[in-house]
Amino acid sequence: MNKLSVLTRAFSSSSSLNAVKTVTVVGGGLMGSGIAQVAAQAGQNVTIVDLKLELLEKAWTSIEQNLTRVAKKVHKDDAAKIETFVQDAASRIKVSTKVEDGVNADLIIEAIVEKLDVKQELFNKLDLLAPEHTILASNTSSISINAIGAGIKRKDRFGGLHFFNPVPIMRLLEVIKGDQISEQTYQTMMEWGKSIGKTCITCKDTPGFVVNRLLGPYSAEALRMYERGDAKAEDIDLAMKLACGYPMGPFELADYTGLDTKKAILGVMLEATGDPVFRPIPVLDRLVEEGKLGRKSGEGIYKYEK
Ligand code: CAA
Ligand code: NAD
Repeated sequence: MNKLSVLTRAFSSSSSLNAVKTVTVVGGGLMGSGIAQVAAQAGQNVTIVDLKLELLEKAWTSIEQNLTRVAKKVHKDDAAKIETFVQDAASRIKVSTKVEDGVNADLIIEAIVEKLDVKQELFNKLDLLAPEHTILASNTSSISINAIGAGIKRKDRFGGLHFFNPVPIMRLLEVIKGDQISEQTYQTMMEWGKSIGKTCITCKDTPGFVVNRLLGPYSAEALRMYERGDAKAEDIDLAMKLACGYPMGPFELADYTGLDTKKAILGVMLEATGDPVFRPIPVLDRLVEEGKLGRKSGEGIYKYEK
Protein backbone atom coordinates (compact mmCIF):
# COMPACT_ATOMS: atom_id res chain seq x y z
CA MET A 1 0.00 0.00 0.00
CA ASN A 2 1.43 3.40 -0.90
CA LYS A 3 1.51 6.57 1.23
CA LEU A 4 -1.49 8.09 -0.54
CA SER A 5 -3.76 5.12 0.06
CA VAL A 6 -2.87 5.19 3.75
CA LEU A 7 -3.85 8.86 3.92
CA THR A 8 -7.05 8.18 1.98
CA ARG A 9 -7.95 5.22 4.16
CA ALA A 10 -7.51 7.31 7.28
CA PHE A 11 -9.68 10.02 5.78
CA SER A 12 -12.49 7.73 4.56
CA SER A 13 -12.63 5.90 7.87
CA SER A 14 -14.22 9.02 9.36
CA SER A 15 -17.62 7.67 8.32
CA SER A 16 -17.20 4.29 10.03
CA LEU A 17 -15.87 4.96 13.50
CA ASN A 18 -15.20 2.08 15.85
CA ALA A 19 -15.64 2.16 19.62
CA VAL A 20 -13.03 4.88 20.14
CA LYS A 21 -14.63 8.24 19.41
CA THR A 22 -12.71 10.54 21.73
CA VAL A 23 -8.94 10.53 22.13
CA THR A 24 -6.67 12.53 24.42
CA VAL A 25 -2.98 12.86 23.67
CA VAL A 26 -0.79 13.94 26.59
CA GLY A 27 2.37 15.60 25.22
CA GLY A 28 1.98 17.71 22.09
CA GLY A 29 5.58 17.48 20.82
CA LEU A 30 6.86 15.79 17.69
CA MET A 31 4.90 12.58 18.23
CA GLY A 32 1.87 13.80 20.18
CA SER A 33 0.97 16.41 17.56
CA GLY A 34 1.17 13.75 14.83
CA ILE A 35 -0.97 11.29 16.80
CA ALA A 36 -3.56 13.99 17.45
CA GLN A 37 -3.58 14.87 13.76
CA VAL A 38 -4.20 11.33 12.47
CA ALA A 39 -6.98 10.74 15.02
CA ALA A 40 -8.69 14.02 14.06
CA GLN A 41 -8.32 13.19 10.35
CA ALA A 42 -10.14 9.94 11.04
CA GLY A 43 -13.11 11.81 12.52
CA GLN A 44 -12.33 11.45 16.20
CA ASN A 45 -12.54 14.26 18.76
CA VAL A 46 -9.12 14.96 20.18
CA THR A 47 -7.73 16.86 23.17
CA ILE A 48 -4.02 17.63 23.33
CA VAL A 49 -2.53 18.30 26.76
CA ASP A 50 0.91 19.85 27.23
CA LEU A 51 2.66 21.80 29.96
CA LYS A 52 2.58 25.30 28.48
CA LEU A 53 0.39 27.27 26.11
CA GLU A 54 3.32 28.13 23.84
CA LEU A 55 4.03 24.41 23.34
CA LEU A 56 0.39 23.86 22.41
CA GLU A 57 0.58 26.77 19.96
CA LYS A 58 3.64 25.15 18.34
CA ALA A 59 1.77 21.84 18.14
CA TRP A 60 -1.23 23.57 16.56
CA THR A 61 0.93 25.27 13.89
CA SER A 62 2.61 22.01 13.01
CA ILE A 63 -0.74 20.19 12.79
CA GLU A 64 -2.24 22.83 10.49
CA GLN A 65 0.80 22.67 8.20
CA ASN A 66 0.81 18.89 8.07
CA LEU A 67 -2.98 18.65 7.60
CA THR A 68 -2.57 20.92 4.57
CA ARG A 69 0.18 18.66 3.17
CA VAL A 70 -2.10 15.64 3.58
CA ALA A 71 -5.14 17.46 2.16
CA LYS A 72 -3.19 18.52 -0.93
CA LYS A 73 -2.26 14.92 -1.55
CA VAL A 74 -5.79 13.58 -1.06
CA HIS A 75 -7.63 16.37 -2.93
CA LYS A 76 -4.97 17.46 -5.44
CA ASP A 77 -5.88 20.92 -6.81
CA ASP A 78 -9.39 21.21 -5.36
CA ALA A 79 -8.87 24.25 -3.09
CA ALA A 80 -12.36 24.10 -1.55
CA LYS A 81 -12.00 20.43 -0.59
CA ILE A 82 -8.52 21.06 0.77
CA GLU A 83 -9.83 23.83 3.00
CA THR A 84 -12.79 21.76 4.20
CA PHE A 85 -10.50 18.82 5.01
CA VAL A 86 -8.17 20.99 7.08
CA GLN A 87 -10.96 22.89 8.83
CA ASP A 88 -12.95 19.72 9.61
CA ALA A 89 -9.99 17.97 11.18
CA ALA A 90 -8.76 21.10 13.01
CA SER A 91 -12.26 21.74 14.42
CA ARG A 92 -12.12 18.37 16.17
CA ILE A 93 -8.96 19.27 18.12
CA LYS A 94 -8.99 21.03 21.49
CA VAL A 95 -5.93 21.90 23.54
CA SER A 96 -5.35 22.36 27.25
CA THR A 97 -2.57 22.72 29.79
CA LYS A 98 -4.62 20.77 32.37
CA VAL A 99 -4.70 17.00 32.18
CA GLU A 100 -8.10 17.11 33.95
CA ASP A 101 -9.57 18.60 30.75
CA GLY A 102 -8.58 15.49 28.80
CA VAL A 103 -9.60 12.66 31.06
CA ASN A 104 -13.09 12.12 29.63
CA ALA A 105 -11.91 10.16 26.61
CA ASP A 106 -12.26 6.61 25.28
CA LEU A 107 -8.51 6.41 24.74
CA ILE A 108 -5.69 8.43 26.35
CA ILE A 109 -2.28 8.19 24.72
CA GLU A 110 0.81 9.44 26.52
CA ALA A 111 3.59 10.94 24.36
CA ILE A 112 5.68 12.81 26.94
CA VAL A 113 9.39 12.67 27.75
CA GLU A 114 11.06 9.20 27.67
CA LYS A 115 11.53 8.90 31.46
CA LEU A 116 10.00 6.10 33.51
CA ASP A 117 9.25 8.05 36.69
CA VAL A 118 7.58 10.94 34.81
CA LYS A 119 5.45 8.53 32.79
CA GLN A 120 4.49 6.53 35.92
CA GLU A 121 3.41 9.68 37.74
CA LEU A 122 1.21 10.69 34.80
CA PHE A 123 -0.41 7.26 34.45
CA ASN A 124 -1.10 7.00 38.18
CA LYS A 125 -2.92 10.32 37.94
CA LEU A 126 -4.82 9.35 34.77
CA ASP A 127 -5.86 6.06 36.37
CA LEU A 128 -7.48 7.93 39.25
CA LEU A 129 -9.17 10.60 37.12
CA ALA A 130 -10.33 8.82 33.96
CA PRO A 131 -13.70 7.07 33.67
CA GLU A 132 -13.87 3.32 34.12
CA HIS A 133 -14.01 2.46 30.41
CA THR A 134 -11.04 4.62 29.34
CA ILE A 135 -8.09 2.78 27.80
CA LEU A 136 -4.65 4.15 28.69
CA ALA A 137 -1.71 3.74 26.30
CA SER A 138 1.93 4.81 26.11
CA ASN A 139 3.82 5.78 22.96
CA THR A 140 7.11 4.94 24.69
CA SER A 141 9.94 4.00 22.34
CA SER A 142 11.69 1.64 24.67
CA ILE A 143 10.51 1.63 28.28
CA SER A 144 8.77 -1.47 29.60
CA ILE A 145 4.99 -1.16 29.37
CA ASN A 146 4.61 -3.29 32.52
CA ALA A 147 6.95 -0.92 34.40
CA ILE A 148 5.11 2.20 33.23
CA GLY A 149 1.78 0.73 34.34
CA ALA A 150 3.07 -0.81 37.57
CA GLY A 151 1.14 1.60 39.79
CA ILE A 152 -2.22 1.63 38.00
CA LYS A 153 -5.29 -0.44 38.84
CA ARG A 154 -6.68 -0.82 35.29
CA LYS A 155 -3.82 -3.01 34.03
CA ASP A 156 -6.32 -4.82 31.78
CA ARG A 157 -7.09 -1.52 30.02
CA PHE A 158 -3.49 -0.48 29.39
CA GLY A 159 -0.90 -1.14 26.67
CA GLY A 160 1.60 0.36 24.26
CA LEU A 161 0.76 2.15 21.02
CA HIS A 162 4.12 2.89 19.43
CA PHE A 163 3.98 5.27 16.48
CA PHE A 164 6.74 6.31 14.08
CA ASN A 165 7.95 9.73 13.06
CA PRO A 166 6.49 11.44 11.01
CA VAL A 167 3.23 9.99 12.31
CA PRO A 168 0.99 11.12 9.40
CA ILE A 169 3.27 9.36 6.90
CA MET A 170 4.76 6.27 8.57
CA ARG A 171 2.39 3.35 8.09
CA LEU A 172 3.29 1.16 11.06
CA LEU A 173 1.80 1.04 14.55
CA GLU A 174 3.33 -1.36 17.08
CA VAL A 175 0.70 -2.57 19.53
CA ILE A 176 2.47 -3.68 22.71
CA LYS A 177 0.84 -6.22 24.98
CA GLY A 178 1.61 -5.76 28.66
CA ASP A 179 1.29 -8.90 30.77
CA GLN A 180 -2.19 -8.06 32.02
CA ILE A 181 -3.87 -6.47 29.00
CA SER A 182 -7.32 -7.92 28.28
CA GLU A 183 -8.18 -9.41 24.91
CA GLN A 184 -10.90 -6.75 24.53
CA THR A 185 -8.44 -3.88 25.08
CA TYR A 186 -5.94 -5.44 22.69
CA GLN A 187 -8.61 -5.86 19.98
CA THR A 188 -9.83 -2.28 20.51
CA MET A 189 -6.26 -1.00 20.10
CA MET A 190 -5.80 -3.01 16.88
CA GLU A 191 -9.18 -1.77 15.54
CA TRP A 192 -8.36 1.81 16.48
CA GLY A 193 -5.00 1.56 14.70
CA LYS A 194 -6.84 0.44 11.56
CA SER A 195 -9.38 3.25 11.93
CA ILE A 196 -6.60 5.84 11.70
CA GLY A 197 -5.09 4.18 8.62
CA LYS A 198 -2.17 2.32 10.23
CA THR A 199 -1.00 -1.24 9.73
CA CYS A 200 -0.63 -2.81 13.16
CA ILE A 201 1.81 -5.40 14.35
CA THR A 202 1.81 -6.94 17.80
CA CYS A 203 4.83 -7.26 20.06
CA LYS A 204 5.45 -8.50 23.58
CA ASP A 205 6.70 -6.08 26.21
CA THR A 206 10.34 -6.59 25.25
CA PRO A 207 13.07 -3.87 25.27
CA GLY A 208 12.73 -1.59 22.22
CA PHE A 209 9.87 -3.75 20.90
CA VAL A 210 10.56 -4.71 17.27
CA VAL A 211 11.72 -1.53 15.57
CA ASN A 212 13.96 0.07 18.20
CA ARG A 213 15.58 -3.27 19.11
CA LEU A 214 16.90 -3.27 15.55
CA LEU A 215 17.29 0.47 14.98
CA GLY A 216 19.07 1.16 18.31
CA PRO A 217 22.31 -0.80 17.60
CA TYR A 218 22.38 0.62 14.05
CA SER A 219 22.16 4.24 15.33
CA ALA A 220 24.68 3.58 18.12
CA GLU A 221 27.24 2.03 15.77
CA ALA A 222 26.83 4.91 13.30
CA LEU A 223 27.43 7.47 16.08
CA ARG A 224 30.55 5.60 17.22
CA MET A 225 31.82 5.47 13.65
CA TYR A 226 31.34 9.26 13.42
CA GLU A 227 33.01 9.76 16.80
CA ARG A 228 36.07 7.74 15.74
CA GLY A 229 36.30 9.83 12.58
CA ASP A 230 36.07 6.75 10.33
CA ALA A 231 34.06 8.78 7.81
CA LYS A 232 32.23 12.11 7.62
CA ALA A 233 28.62 12.19 8.81
CA GLU A 234 27.47 13.19 5.32
CA ASP A 235 29.29 10.22 3.77
CA ILE A 236 27.90 7.73 6.30
CA ASP A 237 24.39 9.05 5.59
CA LEU A 238 24.95 8.89 1.86
CA ALA A 239 26.32 5.36 2.15
CA MET A 240 23.23 4.00 3.88
CA LYS A 241 20.85 5.80 1.51
CA LEU A 242 22.59 4.74 -1.68
CA ALA A 243 23.72 1.27 -0.63
CA CYS A 244 20.69 0.15 1.35
CA GLY A 245 17.90 2.33 -0.04
CA TYR A 246 17.09 3.90 3.35
CA PRO A 247 15.16 7.17 2.95
CA MET A 248 17.41 8.90 5.51
CA GLY A 249 20.91 8.10 6.72
CA PRO A 250 21.47 7.34 10.45
CA PHE A 251 22.35 10.95 11.39
CA GLU A 252 19.56 12.56 9.41
CA LEU A 253 17.23 10.15 11.19
CA ALA A 254 18.77 10.70 14.65
CA ASP A 255 18.40 14.49 14.21
CA TYR A 256 14.84 13.93 13.02
CA THR A 257 13.99 11.72 16.02
CA GLY A 258 15.64 14.13 18.49
CA LEU A 259 19.05 13.40 20.02
CA ASP A 260 17.63 13.67 23.55
CA THR A 261 15.08 10.99 22.71
CA LYS A 262 17.77 8.88 21.00
CA LYS A 263 20.00 9.12 24.11
CA ALA A 264 17.09 8.22 26.39
CA ILE A 265 16.20 5.19 24.25
CA LEU A 266 19.79 3.89 24.24
CA GLY A 267 19.98 4.38 28.04
CA VAL A 268 16.79 2.42 28.60
CA MET A 269 17.96 -0.34 26.26
CA LEU A 270 21.31 -0.62 28.08
CA GLU A 271 19.60 -0.94 31.44
CA ALA A 272 17.07 -3.47 30.13
CA THR A 273 19.43 -5.70 28.13
CA GLY A 274 22.94 -5.06 29.51
CA ASP A 275 24.13 -5.23 25.90
CA PRO A 276 27.26 -3.03 25.55
CA VAL A 277 26.16 -1.92 22.09
CA PHE A 278 23.84 0.47 23.97
CA ARG A 279 26.60 1.89 26.22
CA PRO A 280 26.88 5.70 26.44
CA ILE A 281 28.31 7.52 23.41
CA PRO A 282 30.30 10.63 24.46
CA VAL A 283 29.53 12.61 21.30
CA LEU A 284 25.80 12.05 21.81
CA ASP A 285 26.01 13.01 25.49
CA ARG A 286 27.90 16.19 24.60
CA LEU A 287 25.43 17.29 21.93
CA VAL A 288 22.48 16.74 24.26
CA GLU A 289 24.21 18.61 27.09
CA GLU A 290 24.80 21.55 24.74
CA GLY A 291 21.09 21.58 23.82
CA LYS A 292 21.85 20.42 20.28
CA LEU A 293 18.88 18.10 20.04
CA GLY A 294 18.53 17.82 16.27
CA ARG A 295 15.96 19.42 13.98
CA LYS A 296 13.68 20.52 16.82
CA SER A 297 16.38 22.77 18.33
CA GLY A 298 17.92 23.89 15.02
CA GLU A 299 21.16 21.92 15.45
CA GLY A 300 22.24 18.36 16.16
CA ILE A 301 24.72 16.42 14.08
CA TYR A 302 23.78 18.93 11.36
CA LYS A 303 22.66 22.57 11.44
CA TYR A 304 19.14 23.52 10.25
CA GLU A 305 17.68 26.80 9.13
CA LYS A 306 14.76 27.84 11.33
N1 CAA B 1 2.99 15.32 7.70
C1 CAA B 1 2.43 15.19 6.49
N2 CAA B 1 3.14 14.93 5.36
C2 CAA B 1 4.48 14.82 5.49
C3 CAA B 1 5.14 14.96 6.72
C4 CAA B 1 4.33 15.22 7.86
N3 CAA B 1 4.85 15.37 9.08
N4 CAA B 1 6.46 14.78 6.52
C5 CAA B 1 6.64 14.54 5.22
N5 CAA B 1 5.45 14.56 4.59
C6 CAA B 1 5.18 14.31 3.19
C7 CAA B 1 5.69 15.44 2.30
O1 CAA B 1 4.71 16.44 2.15
C8 CAA B 1 6.00 14.74 0.99
O2 CAA B 1 4.84 14.62 0.22
P1 CAA B 1 4.92 14.48 -1.39
O3 CAA B 1 5.64 13.19 -1.65
O4 CAA B 1 3.51 14.47 -1.82
O5 CAA B 1 5.70 15.68 -1.82
C9 CAA B 1 6.41 13.35 1.43
O6 CAA B 1 5.92 13.15 2.77
C10 CAA B 1 7.89 13.21 1.40
O7 CAA B 1 8.44 14.29 2.18
P2 CAA B 1 9.62 15.23 1.72
O8 CAA B 1 9.57 15.44 0.25
O9 CAA B 1 9.64 16.42 2.62
O10 CAA B 1 10.95 14.46 2.08
P3 CAA B 1 11.35 12.96 1.87
O11 CAA B 1 10.98 12.42 0.55
O12 CAA B 1 12.76 12.94 2.30
O13 CAA B 1 10.50 12.16 2.97
C11 CAA B 1 10.30 11.24 5.12
C12 CAA B 1 10.49 12.51 4.31
C13 CAA B 1 8.91 10.67 4.88
C14 CAA B 1 10.44 11.64 6.58
C15 CAA B 1 11.39 10.19 4.69
O14 CAA B 1 12.66 10.79 4.66
C16 CAA B 1 11.44 8.99 5.59
O15 CAA B 1 10.65 8.06 5.46
N6 CAA B 1 12.41 8.99 6.53
C17 CAA B 1 12.61 7.89 7.46
C18 CAA B 1 11.72 8.11 8.66
C19 CAA B 1 11.82 6.98 9.64
O16 CAA B 1 12.62 6.06 9.53
N7 CAA B 1 10.97 7.04 10.68
C20 CAA B 1 10.98 6.10 11.74
C21 CAA B 1 11.94 6.55 12.80
S1 CAA B 1 11.99 5.48 14.19
C22 CAA B 1 10.74 6.00 15.16
O17 CAA B 1 10.00 6.89 14.86
C23 CAA B 1 10.55 5.22 16.43
C24 CAA B 1 11.17 5.71 17.64
O18 CAA B 1 10.72 5.30 18.69
C25 CAA B 1 12.34 6.64 17.63
P1 NAD C 1 9.06 15.88 22.32
O1 NAD C 1 10.15 16.37 23.20
O2 NAD C 1 8.97 16.38 20.94
O3 NAD C 1 7.64 16.12 23.01
C1 NAD C 1 7.33 15.77 24.35
C2 NAD C 1 6.26 16.75 24.82
O4 NAD C 1 5.74 16.28 26.07
C3 NAD C 1 6.81 18.16 25.06
O5 NAD C 1 6.03 19.10 24.36
C4 NAD C 1 6.69 18.34 26.58
O6 NAD C 1 6.41 19.66 26.96
C5 NAD C 1 5.53 17.42 26.90
N1 NAD C 1 5.50 16.95 28.29
C6 NAD C 1 6.52 16.54 29.05
N2 NAD C 1 6.05 16.16 30.28
C7 NAD C 1 4.70 16.36 30.25
C8 NAD C 1 3.65 16.17 31.19
N3 NAD C 1 3.89 15.68 32.41
N4 NAD C 1 2.38 16.48 30.82
C9 NAD C 1 2.11 16.98 29.59
N5 NAD C 1 3.07 17.16 28.65
C10 NAD C 1 4.34 16.87 28.98
O7 NAD C 1 9.20 14.28 22.34
P2 NAD C 1 8.67 13.23 21.24
O8 NAD C 1 9.75 12.98 20.25
O9 NAD C 1 7.30 13.61 20.81
O10 NAD C 1 8.59 11.91 22.15
C11 NAD C 1 7.52 11.68 23.03
C12 NAD C 1 7.44 10.20 23.36
O11 NAD C 1 7.29 9.45 22.14
C13 NAD C 1 8.70 9.63 24.04
O12 NAD C 1 8.32 8.62 24.93
C14 NAD C 1 9.49 9.06 22.87
O13 NAD C 1 10.38 8.04 23.24
C15 NAD C 1 8.34 8.51 22.01
N6 NAD C 1 8.65 8.35 20.58
C16 NAD C 1 9.45 9.28 19.95
C17 NAD C 1 9.69 9.11 18.59
C18 NAD C 1 10.55 10.08 17.83
O14 NAD C 1 10.97 9.78 16.70
N7 NAD C 1 10.84 11.26 18.35
C19 NAD C 1 9.14 8.02 17.89
C20 NAD C 1 8.29 7.13 18.58
C21 NAD C 1 8.06 7.31 19.94
